[in-house]
Amino acid sequence: MSFSFLSLLLFCSTLFLRVESRYSPITPITSLISKNLFDSIFLHKDDTACPAKNFYPYQSFIEASKSFPPFGTTGCLATRKREIAAFLAQISHETSGGWSTAPDGPFSWGLCFKEEISPQSIYCDSTDKDWPCFVGKSYKGRGPIQLSWNFNYGPAGKALGFDGLRNPEIVSNNSVIAFKSALWFWMTERKPTPSCHNVMVGKYVATEADIAANRTAGYGLVTNIINGGLECGIPGDARVNDRIGFFQRYSKLFNVDTGPNLDCAYQKSL
Ligand SMILES: *[C@@H]1O[C@H](CO)[C@@H](O)[C@H](O)[C@H]1NC(C)=O
Ligand SMILES: *[C@@H]1O[C@H](CO)[C@@H](O)[C@H](O)[C@H]1NC(C)=O
Repeated sequence: MSFSFLSLLLFCSTLFLRVESRYSPITPITSLISKNLFDSIFLHKDDTACPAKNFYPYQSFIEASKSFPPFGTTGCLATRKREIAAFLAQISHETSGGWSTAPDGPFSWGLCFKEEISPQSIYCDSTDKDWPCFVGKSYKGRGPIQLSWNFNYGPAGKALGFDGLRNPEIVSNNSVIAFKSALWFWMTERKPTPSCHNVMVGKYVATEADIAANRTAGYGLVTNIINGGLECGIPGDARVNDRIGFFQRYSKLFNVDTGPNLDCAYQKSL
């Protein structure tokens, strides 16, 4: 009795996953994130000051999530809430219009941008023969996760049913595809790099090399997956702290703890 209770606590996500997928319908994410909660998270996304004004409605997020059934439905209640909070926090940093003294604080300005304003390049890796760039196209940051590079636009389009190399603009042109591109990035494993989803739901298994690099599961590892090459292993990095600030605010709104390893300051990048 006490043993099974203990294992329920310890392995809650595994048990729930099994029980839910085999015996009961998946709880839809709408039961964890209502339109009210979404709008209180993204207080300023439809301000005139935001270039993405009216581009990111709640309904498009919910519609896009239907293409990724495990998102926000894996594990126990706290795990599911924490994953959604982490996803929304990371896309908020990517699209933030906030500044330190912004109305309602810097972490109320997620989803303010839909495309990169002054890209430094067209983000074409011409050595990638699988996903060749098209003349005149820019693979700059677009959508909630600011999808960039031909080697991401190509596979994202293939998975989601659009031509990411010929028509990358669709990611900042169609709000359901925009959210799908962000969820695709979140859910997809790029070996040996784990998916953000697996890290947040406890399915990530650290290798010896990961352990030596301090890459233990937590929000900091998700930051490492998204942009670790530029941001991780740097104590006090402002970009990392901005990502954490969003997550702390959203976790409170979801009424869930953030979990351990928020930072990637002492992680080697992936
Ligand atoms: C998509 O983008 C093109 C070029 O920027 C624009 O002309 C068109 O109106 C956009 N379509 C939608 C549905 O936003
Ligand atoms: C791992 O973290 C510790 C501090 O917690 C640090 O001293 C060490 O340098 C880190 N290792 C790597 C590979 O960054």
